[in-house]
Amino acid sequence: MTEEEKKELIREAFKARRNSYSPYSHFAVGAALKTKEGKIYTGSNMENAAFGPGVCAERCAFACAVKEGEREFVAIAVVGGKAEEKEEVSDFAYPCGVCRQVMREFADPDEFVIVVAKSETEAESHTLSELLPYGFGKENM
Ligand code: THU
Repeated sequence: MTEEEKKELIREAFKARRNSYSPYSHFAVGAALKTKEGKIYTGSNMENAAFGPGVCAERCAFACAVKEGEREFVAIAVVGGKAEEKEEVSDFAYPCGVCRQVMREFADPDEFVIVVAKSETEAESHTLSELLPYGFGKENM
């Protein structure tokens, strides 16, 4: 992924974050997921009064893409922070364990890149293997 492509993915994650439904945590998250062919699917977190049914931004993006028939992904950008932070966020928001496992289902752990960003220019990239070492996948069954 080029620097420009990375910036675009972060931009899309920030755009998706605007639609975060997070009235309970006031922590708004946006994600932008890139397919092998270069298409981008986005997601934001969606909370619920009963708490349990809440969905993370990353899984929202994956569900959106998978329901369109997509199965191969190369990268995801994640941006999360207090709802009042709009254009930039103050910390990196790393994907939760459940989302890492969902990524493991559809991505090559050594190739798939997770970009966490505070802004378009302040970002860190990690492979899924780094964030989910010794993960469990279909080839382990
Ligand atoms: N959240 C995400 O959207 N992605 C993550 O990887 C971590 C947490 C959401 C869930 C909840 O709506 C809010 O952030 C606070 O946990």
